[in-house]
Amino acid sequence: MSYKSCKYIQGGIAFRHDAVSLCNKLCGTKRYEKFNIPYKENFYDKFIEVREEAIENCKKGILPHDGCLSCPYVEEKDWDEDTRFREIEITHWVHCNCSCCYCAMLPETKGKMTRFRTNSPFVVLLPVIKRMLKEDRIHPNAFFSVTGGELTMLKEFPSIMKLLLNQKNTSYGFCLQTNGMKYESLLSKAIEKDRRTSIVISIDAGSRDLFKLIKKRDTYNDVLKNLKHYLKDAQNCGNADRIVAKYIIVPNVNDKKEEIDSWIKTCKKIGIKTLQPSIEFCSQVVNPGTFKEKQGELYEYMKEQIKSNGFDMITYDFLENIVKNRSFDITIKSRD
Ligand SMILES: C[S@@+](CC[C@H](N)C(=O)[O-])C[C@H]1O[C@@H](n2cnc3c(N)ncnc32)[C@H](O)[C@@H]1O
Ligand code: SF4
Ligand code: SF4
Repeated sequence: MSYKSCKYIQGGIAFRHDAVSLCNKLCGTKRYEKFNIPYKENFYDKFIEVREEAIENCKKGILPHDGCLSCPYVEEKDWDEDTRFREIEITHWVHCNCSCCYCAMLPETKGKMTRFRTNSPFVVLLPVIKRMLKEDRIHPNAFFSVTGGELTMLKEFPSIMKLLLNQKNTSYGFCLQTNGMKYESLLSKAIEKDRRTSIVISIDAGSRDLFKLIKKRDTYNDVLKNLKHYLKDAQNCGNADRIVAKYIIVPNVNDKKEEIDSWIKTCKKIGIKTLQPSIEFCSQVVNPGTFKEKQGELYEYMKEQIKSNGFDMITYDFLENIVKNRSFDITIKSRD
């Protein structure tokens, strides 16, 4: 049956720090309140109800909210009847051992490191994931984005990862975003199991001094050492290209071509194969909603340098549109 929907309505669940949500991607639109279920008793059951209702409404031609009408993720097609979860975002904590000047979590952490929230017990995810597995709600080829906060600071991270990696007859992909300050062997285990899995580390600098200025931690050399460790692990299973180093351009902080050149040189030296250019895009943090021409120019410069130096490159699709349209409003996506 053909109808308008999006892959998140059909198979998404995002465990964020403040609520569980179905509309789980940056899409430049206000999230529908019904899709933000706070962590209170029975939040998971409530979520299942809301989601089933949303799918039924889409089948009748009613999209969940006005924002969906201009959302680039809406598609009209024959959606699979199997609505088990395929896009799972695990980002239900904010604590971190670092304090990046651009962090999307700044409004929550106020820049404090290692801020353990006094979460209600409902935010402990392990029992929920166990339940989802028991009820066969997770698609065998599901993709998990694990962000946070810092995953090496999440107490239940090892239990969640081990549980997922030990499931029989499944091949789960993961996007594992870490600051790279602490090495975690479970990340390498995940890389071994599925080609879609990647470990992404934002270095954002080509020198120790600038790194320290951005991150408020003097751990540049530790991060490079851990990157090399992950690379070595990944080389052993032929997946070295799945270790990704990222650079987020922050206006007036690391927006010099020389720094970008130096970052590229360092990545080459330690043997990284894949790079990700990015810009600071959480307007509430550093960039008060206005796209800076220079970010766009430098973003294009970084892409050229990445290609001409023979690296593989990954980019966020929405970022390409931000740069093309010179606006952070990605609902004006040109769908060419
Ligand atoms: C909030 S972080 C958490 C994961 C991990 N602590 C890390 O820094 O990689 C998730 C991802 O968002 C990126 N990020 C954080 N704040 C951002 C911002 N203001 N603009 C663009 N990317 C941002 C980080 O580089 C990271 O890849
Ligand atoms: S706003 Fe976009 S991603 Fe969110 S539910 Fe609507 S179509 Fe899906
Ligand atoms: S390492 Fe990640 S979570 Fe921690 S401050 Fe930096 S961007 Fe935020």
